[in-house]
Amino acid sequence: MNIENTDLKSLIEKALDMRNYSYVPYSHFHVGVALLAKNGKVYGGCNIENASYGVSNCAERTALFHAVSEGVKEFDRIVITGGPEEGELQFCAPCGICRQALREFCDPKSFEIILAKSTEDYRSYTLEQLLPESFGPENLVN
Ligand code: THU
Repeated sequence: MNIENTDLKSLIEKALDMRNYSYVPYSHFHVGVALLAKNGKVYGGCNIENASYGVSNCAERTALFHAVSEGVKEFDRIVITGGPEEGELQFCAPCGICRQALREFCDPKSFEIILAKSTEDYRSYTLEQLLPESFGPENLVN
């Protein structure tokens, strides 16, 4: 297993690097993420758009689904970096669909979502802060 550096600075650098792989011919908005699993593995992700716009996939779900496809389903944090092709990075918050996708596997109170412009400039939230009063797998258990 390829264990990468898992400190926050390394995760931010990984997320920033993943922006280079974004396939964004329509929005020209590059998003890169680094998702840290509890087993220490880091999953990078980028957004991947499609000529049929609705088929496009966010960077967060690219990383999450890659991890789950390898049987990895427990996570500590995700770093998200995003901004237009030209110009400054934003504190790029995950869309509603990605918040709910993360909710399936991540603990709302402890999973951290870090929106980073650089290794020095970032904001940190819990999943619960970004998705309060959420609906998750435990709601469906009798
Ligand atoms: N996007 C992401 O990949 N993650 C986010 O957190 C916000 C938005 C993508 C979707 C689309 O490819 C582009 O950014 C513009 O919405």
